[in-house]
Amino acid sequence: MSAAELQRRTGYCGALRAGDVGRRVVLQGWVHRRRDLGALLFVDLRDREGVCQIVFNQERDAGLHARAAELRSEYVVAVGGEVVRRDAATVNPALATGEVEVVATALEVLNTARTPPFPLTEEAADTVSEEARLKYRYLDLRHPGMQANLRLRHKVVNAIRNAFDAQGFLEVETPFLTRSTPEGARDYLVPSRVYLGSFYALPQSPQLFKQLLMIGGADRYFQIVRCFRDEDLRADRQPEFTQIDVEMSFPDQDTLFGIIEGVLRDACAAAGREIALPFPRMSWDEAMAKYGSDKPDLRLPPMTEVGGLLPAAAREQLKLAEGMPLLLIRIPNVGELSRRERDELRPLAEGRPVRLFEDFARVARNFPGPAAAMRQASGAEEGDLLALVGAAAGIGAVAETGAGEAAASPAEARAAVRAVQTHAGALRLALGQRFAERHGRFGAGALRFLWVTEFPMFEWDETERRWAASHHPFTSPREEDVAGLERDPGAVKARAYDVVLNGIELGSGSVRIHRAEVQAKIFELLGMGPEEAKARFGFFLEALQYGTPPHGGIALGLDRLVMLLAGASSIREVIAFPKTARAVDLMVDAPTPVAAAQLKELGLRVPGM
Ligand code: AMO
Repeated sequence: MSAAELQRRTGYCGALRAGDVGRRVVLQGWVHRRRDLGALLFVDLRDREGVCQIVFNQERDAGLHARAAELRSEYVVAVGGEVVRRDAATVNPALATGEVEVVATALEVLNTARTPPFPLTEEAADTVSEEARLKYRYLDLRHPGMQANLRLRHKVVNAIRNAFDAQGFLEVETPFLTRSTPEGARDYLVPSRVYLGSFYALPQSPQLFKQLLMIGGADRYFQIVRCFRDEDLRADRQPEFTQIDVEMSFPDQDTLFGIIEGVLRDACAAAGREIALPFPRMSWDEAMAKYGSDKPDLRLPPMTEVGGLLPAAAREQLKLAEGMPLLLIRIPNVGELSRRERDELRPLAEGRPVRLFEDFARVARNFPGPAAAMRQASGAEEGDLLALVGAAAGIGAVAETGAGEAAASPAEARAAVRAVQTHAGALRLALGQRFAERHGRFGAGALRFLWVTEFPMFEWDETERRWAASHHPFTSPREEDVAGLERDPGAVKARAYDVVLNGIELGSGSVRIHRAEVQAKIFELLGMGPEEAKARFGFFLEALQYGTPPHGGIALGLDRLVMLLAGASSIREVIAFPKTARAVDLMVDAPTPVAAAQLKELGLRVPGM
């Protein structure tokens, strides 16, 4: 085989199959592994598509065999040879290419490689620290698992683009160098060299631009877009991440939900997963009452309110607050718990203002009648783990009212109830996770989507002592609540919705305010006077006055979607070059200090420099 022929790859290593037997091929890739069996030397050659076995036979070509013996891990080589069928005894069913091998007739080393800082074999994958993986991300990406994630992401994005295109949505790019968009995080700022002391903000989302596009008549917009937020990071948060951002004019909630469900169905199909439409819907109030969370994980059954089934005397005996929720958690299929396992559960409630009765059998012994009714109300079956959660006596505004003390405000009463629900919800998840293997519902198989609707419009910010927008300040209140905006802001519901997948907030959106006077009123309620509103959002308040159509939309987290489809536990697994939980890029070493001259040019001074 000539040197020129060796330069021309005939296909991927990982694509060879039994049908290729007899073909002369040229493969180019990395030396994944080398096994030296004396006269026979085997090299697993790897490329993007997988690995195939190359055989160097000393008897056939001693010189070639000797050169192959020099190969080291991660050398880049070109190999020419013939595809042959493996003996039945040596077929490797674990390998897609396992029925064949290539008998080498030519070899060229295209590049050598230093010994990698960690082995790139599958078996070693779990032993490598994430820090090492991120520092040498270009090597980590060679792992088949990471290659599969990159490919999955590409396919999902492709399916999403096609689905929006089919529905008449236009992809429009919006600026990165812009001004602050309030989404509840800190901004990343970019100093202007031309206007010293002035800064651009990188967008936390394209929220205002997509609304301006609706004012501009675009009608249906989407964008797969990077967003930037300086906030505390977690497994499902990065400082820069990608949104599937959507907005439409003259929105009807059912139409919008239908479009998004279709897009998600196609995205899941691209990952080989079939999902059922339409997604169930639940109001925020119901989600809180049954799941103690605004992002219910439907893979476990809801909690059941059983307060009405327990007589007052029993409540007192169990030291439970009067008039507060009493919730029965049910985790199916757990089976008998050992004494030790029960002991492990008790501390789960420590530090929470609730009482956890993790041993339902004990409650049942003392109150057999009510316990039987509770079991029935929750649909409990043999082998289910049942746990009761209630407010500890002395907790809760409603309880105090009941005891004849000063009546709590409706807002305080609501907050007390929510607190119990939230703690119970957290305990439900903790129990579900603790026994996940036994009940088997958190497996990779299930994709349980859900819409949560009618979120509260405002949340009370205790440190700032003022109301804050639960979603963002451009979200419309429900028509029927507009009149009561000032009277009891905490009771106002928004036309806001989330799409939730397996207990993770996948996307969030709302119908927007399209009337300038309502927008001004909301800014005011959020503690933003007319002057400040004008300074920050004057351009937008003005735009609203030029015939703004009713409009609404949503943004979905692409990284989170792909993470869930890949069965990964962190979005870092599905982002090619992610940052650490401390917002650092270990590979390129960013952020870094900059030269004094550059600071000076930007009119910036850093203490100590
Ligand atoms: P929101 O702030 O809820 O809404 O963001 C929408 C979705 O984006 C994803 N997301 C993130 N993913 C990774 N890392 C982060 N730091 C991060 N922050 C958010 C989540 C989330 O559900 N403008 C509104 C949308 C709208 O009203 O149309 C917005 O940005 O999956």
